[in-house]
Amino acid sequence: MSLLEQAALAALRRVDPERAHGLALKALHTPFAPLPGPVTSPRLATEIAGLALPNPVGLAAGFDKNGTAMAPLARAGFGFIELGAVTPRPQPGNPRPRLFRLREDRAAINRFGFNNDGMEAMATRLAARPQGFPIGLNLGANKDSEDRAGDFATVLTACGAQLDFATVNVSSPNTERLRDLQGADALTALLNGVMAARDALARPIPVFLKIAPDLDAQEIEDIALVARSTGVDAIIATNTTLDREGLKSHHAGEKGGLSGAPLFEKSTRTLAALSAATEGQIPLIGVGGISSAEQAFAKITAGASAVQLYTALVYGGLSLAARIAHGLDEILAARGYTHISQAVGTDREAWL
Ligand code: FNR
Repeated sequence: MSLLEQAALAALRRVDPERAHGLALKALHTPFAPLPGPVTSPRLATEIAGLALPNPVGLAAGFDKNGTAMAPLARAGFGFIELGAVTPRPQPGNPRPRLFRLREDRAAINRFGFNNDGMEAMATRLAARPQGFPIGLNLGANKDSEDRAGDFATVLTACGAQLDFATVNVSSPNTERLRDLQGADALTALLNGVMAARDALARPIPVFLKIAPDLDAQEIEDIALVARSTGVDAIIATNTTLDREGLKSHHAGEKGGLSGAPLFEKSTRTLAALSAATEGQIPLIGVGGISSAEQAFAKITAGASAVQLYTALVYGGLSLAARIAHGLDEILAARGYTHISQAVGTDREAWL
């Protein structure tokens, strides 16, 4: 990390976390932002559900909810980015404060509740998106919607023409009863609606499903079955957790979803269980607590074909994306792999 980035991070840490995030997004448009451009290599360039990625290290949903920084983020070293969550209508989300830094735990708790500008604003921004770089959108439902399941398909229809992938997010803990949509019957109906919307696009795109880390073995099995029967193209494991075990920070009692270092083990276990349940037949994207190339590699050997991160950027800076991608390339080389796909799932049993 450069001295400038270190100084910027130190300054941002003294500001309210939500304000700091807004400032960081704005700073991405200045000449001082660490934007190395695309990071790729023959070992790292890969494909997930037919989508070509320059490298397998992605930006997780929630960082650029409204797509205001997609051009700089496409040059930040990531192999793909996921915008959103976006709902059909704009909504303010929960009252502030709703984002907390847990410094001692290298973690965050958020209870934003899908604050976003709505699908029309997103579609307008996407019309001017950078081309030649994979951009996806996290689909959400309005809090006061009468047809929450239908909301996912509605957002996909509005924005799909400009997307490379879309993610059905039924795993956010901050919209009451949203996670109930992860149940087998509700999920099947919801996904059938989303798949119909996807098939109606002039250029159909892959649809991913994002799951929570707080599912038991049976729920994971059920989701694997539903994903296969509805034709989901990939599963993202995982979203934030409701678990608060082992935290030291005084914010530990805040309501919301916990992300960052304490989520690593739990989300990796969920990923490995899902890999076993899907018998490697559905590509998986591992997310939760990644802050180093070694941890990105651990997710891959647990069963992920690609990874995403968010919270570690708060502590490690945006330059972490390129550092992890380069580090992953070195780990693969050191272990004698000529391509990332050879490492996928090789150590899954250790997490089961
Ligand atoms: C998130 N995350 C998230 N996920 C999602 O599917 N839709 C969303 O809108 C958001 N919003 C969001 C906001 C904030 C402030 C955070 C910290 C996280 C979850 C995120 O994409 C990721 O799944 C988890 O944070 C776990 O990864 P990290 O942060 O431990 O790398």
